[in-house]
Amino acid sequence: MKDGGKMIYLSPPHMGGEEINYIKEAFEANWVAPLGPHVDAFERECALRAGRAGALALSSGTAAVTLSAVLSGIKPGDVFFCSSLTFVASLAPFVQLGAVPVLIDSEPESWDMSPKALEDALKDAEKSGRMPRAVVMANLYGQSCDMDRILPLCERYGALVIEDAAESLGSCYRGRASGSFGKFSFYSFNGNKIITTSGGGMLLSDDAEAMERARFLSAQARDPAPWYQHSELGYNFRMSNILAGIGRAQLKLLPRRVEARRAVFRKYHEAFSETPGISFMPEPAWSRSNRWLTALTVDPEKTGIANLEIIKALEDANVESRPVWKPMHLQPVFGSAKYYGHEGRDVSGELFAKGLCLPSGSNMTDGDISFVIETIRDILPCLP
Ligand SMILES: Cc1ncc(COP(=O)(O)O)c(C=O)c1O
Repeated sequence: MKDGGKMIYLSPPHMGGEEINYIKEAFEANWVAPLGPHVDAFERECALRAGRAGALALSSGTAAVTLSAVLSGIKPGDVFFCSSLTFVASLAPFVQLGAVPVLIDSEPESWDMSPKALEDALKDAEKSGRMPRAVVMANLYGQSCDMDRILPLCERYGALVIEDAAESLGSCYRGRASGSFGKFSFYSFNGNKIITTSGGGMLLSDDAEAMERARFLSAQARDPAPWYQHSELGYNFRMSNILAGIGRAQLKLLPRRVEARRAVFRKYHEAFSETPGISFMPEPAWSRSNRWLTALTVDPEKTGIANLEIIKALEDANVESRPVWKPMHLQPVFGSAKYYGHEGRDVSGELFAKGLCLPSGSNMTDGDISFVIETIRDILPCLP
């Protein structure tokens, strides 16, 4: 057990120390209530970093998904496409608005949405006359989807693209910032993300009109009248000024946090890349991932041990690890959804069956990383 019971978490918050000054500033100016100068500045800073015209600070990434769905014009019965290998929030708001998901497999090269499976799904949609209102592509564990293949396809079929960059803030696709693609994109500042506001999200777009509408809907859709008047219904989705202050301090640290997570990945990679049966999530030439989580697969036939057994052994040593996301087409709640596999395979199902995410926090010490590595080494039957 590590240091008398100290827990090593999968992806804990990592405060830099400056956050408290931003909070103090908000208190001293009594900008405690929702909105305020930190919110405005945080939006500007995020838009600048993403190279986007507009950004809207929200209470969660899920709130940003909801607004993207509403702004896409989703109506009950509409079809939308979504990566299957993702967290449920990528698609839940669409389904809650009555839309019908079609789930797209991953490609082995990136573990992200397969352009081939997407093309198959788009062709079928065209034949059946039920084109998707939107395509939600999730950048898994920090890795961007292959934009040069996905975006032209969506354009050819007239599908609106939403980039789920919840996990990929600080990553790049061919040098361009993650979160700068698609009609709408969003980040999450949930407590487990690369930077956090304790909870929050950011919706981004270059469409000024759509962003104005998002802003209106996110603050209860108040008509411009001296009294509270509503011609339609909105949401209470705005981020508080205090949390935006935390976000501003955290955003300054982002490049360092990316380097730290990539260094954690490198150490695991050095330790296990030669181990038969262990394969790390690849990073294609076009990607520079923030390596939000170090993910790998464990082939029990070669290693002599299954992913869940490693997770259990780590848990017994006070180390938190997780399987790879259970794909959405295998979730009971989406069991009846149509699913397009990659070249006749079920890549995301295969990744789930063998996948493992290791503790990846930017505040892990060298000792923590070595402890995780040694704990795994001790139980790998394939190692001498
Ligand atoms: C891929 C993905 N999409 C959406 C979300 C939702 O973000 P939030 O937790 O901020 O609502 C998350 C993270 O939690 C996520 O990992």
